[in-house]
Amino acid sequence: MHKDVETILISQKKLENIVKSLAKQIEKDYNSKEFIMVGLLKGSIVFMAELMTKIDIDFEIDFMVASSYGGGTESSGKVKILKDLSVSPVGKDILIIEDIVDSGNTLNFVKNHLITAGAASVKVCTLCDKPSRRKVPLEPDYCGAEIPDEFIVGYGLDYDEKYRNLPYIGVLKRSVYS
Ligand code: IMP
Ligand code: MG
Repeated sequence: MHKDVETILISQKKLENIVKSLAKQIEKDYNSKEFIMVGLLKGSIVFMAELMTKIDIDFEIDFMVASSYGGGTESSGKVKILKDLSVSPVGKDILIIEDIVDSGNTLNFVKNHLITAGAASVKVCTLCDKPSRRKVPLEPDYCGAEIPDEFIVGYGLDYDEKYRNLPYIGVLKRSVYS
């Protein structure tokens, strides 16, 4: 275990099972309906890479970059789109892939942005959710795990751009950020 990690919250084995089960749900719901899987960089990369190989229907992928955090552990509330889709969303069914929903600000903003831009439907698949921290209404359509109000890292999730490479999800020691 990494020296800055307090405890392992979701093990590698559990992550594997979570991802498999989400993939099967998505496969069943979209059936043969073509969709675009849109990863929010950078936190979603590990989750999305694992998830996409387990979905056995055709779909396109794309990426967006939205930012609401500085270097800290709290959302600033002001969301900016730093990189938009590289294809037109008009008339497309979009599935956003996110690492974690916290205040809901990021996904609320990105979802509205895509709907306004003309997407036919926009759904959200998140690996983790901290429902107790919600500031704006946002209900993920697919959620891997609800977690308590702790700052977590690993499997794509960072603190100050570190720990994304950990193969598990762990709670970051408070001494690292306070
Ligand atoms: P929201 O806009 O407040 O919902 O924040 C969502 C974004 O904040 C996520 O995409 C993450 O990048 C980041 N975030 C929120 N909670 C955590 C956490 O516990 N660990 C790492 N990143 C987090
Ligand atoms: Mg982040």
